[in-house]
Amino acid sequence: MLFPFLTLVLLAVASQTLAQAGPFAQCGGNGWTGSTSCVAGWQCVAQNAFYSQCLQQTVSTTSAPTSSSPTSTTTKTTTSSTITSCGILSATKSCSATLTVTGFPASAPTTPPSNLVGKTPALGWNSWNAYACSINETKVVAAANQFISLGLKTAGYQYINIDDCWSVMARNSTTNQIVPDPTKFPNGISGVATQVHALGLKFGIYSDAGTATCAGFPGSLGFESIDAATFNAWGVDYLKYGMSMNSVRNSNSAIRYRQMTAALAAQARPVQFNLCLWGNYDVWDWGARVGHSWRLSGDSSATWSYITSIISTAVQHLSNDTFGGHGDMDMMEIGNGALTIQEQRTHFAAWIMLKSPILLGTDLSLLNSTQLTIIKNAELLAFHQDLTIGAPAAPFTPFASAPTTSPPEYYSGKSSKGTHVFIINTAATAATKTFTFSQIPGLGASGSFSVHDMWAGADLSGTYTASATFSVTVQPHDTVAYFINVL
Ligand code: GLA
Repeated sequence: MLFPFLTLVLLAVASQTLAQAGPFAQCGGNGWTGSTSCVAGWQCVAQNAFYSQCLQQTVSTTSAPTSSSPTSTTTKTTTSSTITSCGILSATKSCSATLTVTGFPASAPTTPPSNLVGKTPALGWNSWNAYACSINETKVVAAANQFISLGLKTAGYQYINIDDCWSVMARNSTTNQIVPDPTKFPNGISGVATQVHALGLKFGIYSDAGTATCAGFPGSLGFESIDAATFNAWGVDYLKYGMSMNSVRNSNSAIRYRQMTAALAAQARPVQFNLCLWGNYDVWDWGARVGHSWRLSGDSSATWSYITSIISTAVQHLSNDTFGGHGDMDMMEIGNGALTIQEQRTHFAAWIMLKSPILLGTDLSLLNSTQLTIIKNAELLAFHQDLTIGAPAAPFTPFASAPTTSPPEYYSGKSSKGTHVFIINTAATAATKTFTFSQIPGLGASGSFSVHDMWAGADLSGTYTASATFSVTVQPHDTVAYFINVL
């Protein structure tokens, strides 16, 4: 009995030594092993199953949610029309409080998103996973320069995006514009955009469909036209648009997002528009009419459990994904945490085959050559950016009575070159994976084939008939990616 007792003592000591999380820092979520309490004056609030954040409450909460109990209700009273709000996570979709907000219309324009951008899923970088609120011009411009020096621009990566926390708390009292934080961005946001554009890259920013962002900075509700015009003047090419707990949530989210779609459409500069509302309100059903991509879930974490859970979610919502509209599996974690190289390959391959935006989310200077080789793989990126086939790969049954898994392990998809197969080993031990060629959708019951390894950029030996089976040993949590040559 000594061992369990000692374990408990050690765990207790370890938890006591974890420093309290600071303002806006992560404080919980699936896979989180850091501190779950915040410094004085800040409260740990679940944003979703994967991410809790220290926030200074601006509204009263009736419960202090944790990652295992992510429900909370908020009340807030201002003026104007009354709408119904939901809790922090709409996983339950239960509405629990009445809120009153200004600036919320009863209906919205139906202007579609620009068709000049966003045909294929975005490739770029976003500041949040690497730096959260600790951002500044130096870090953002460094990422842009690393796109050039590391060959990422040549590989196709384009967008350099700033996430939350780039402004001061108050709008300009005369113009009502959001004001960039002069300490973080001494040359303004336009100064950063100019430097990014000078490198031949595109520039993105973040705002929120409510009154405030997740971190409590000004949101765009009621100021959509002013903000869209400001972003246009600054040179913004991409807008990630959140739906924070500080915002008012309701079942009319599409209306509030449409306000911004129309405001952006009124500007000269085409903007790629990302709807960051965490898979709430069946966004996959309407997202393509309002923006170019829509988040499928809460925030990512650098964990295998996140990767498998978001793949499981994404495969349920592939039918609306095509050119101009893509489910967003959230920003990349390659370079963060302790994912194995095999898990990082699966992370990249899954975002590729399911055609999610791929926004790198790390300090790019820390990537090693293996990680760079993964994210610059030309054949995988070509599948993702294919200009002829817009649909993502989808699960298929590899042989009669194959077992089903969650997430599925076998996927096939088309590109302008032909047919591809991706196989994930979801097990923690190496496993032999097998498929029959005739089972691959579209290949048919006759013909002969060979297999090309997309990771290695090389043909494998052997030719196969349609009824033949192909077997490969896949490392734990790894993904193989094949092009099937029709001979
Ligand atoms: C939400 C989003 C994140 C990030 C933060 C910023 O949690 O899901 O991706 O934008 O807000 O506060």
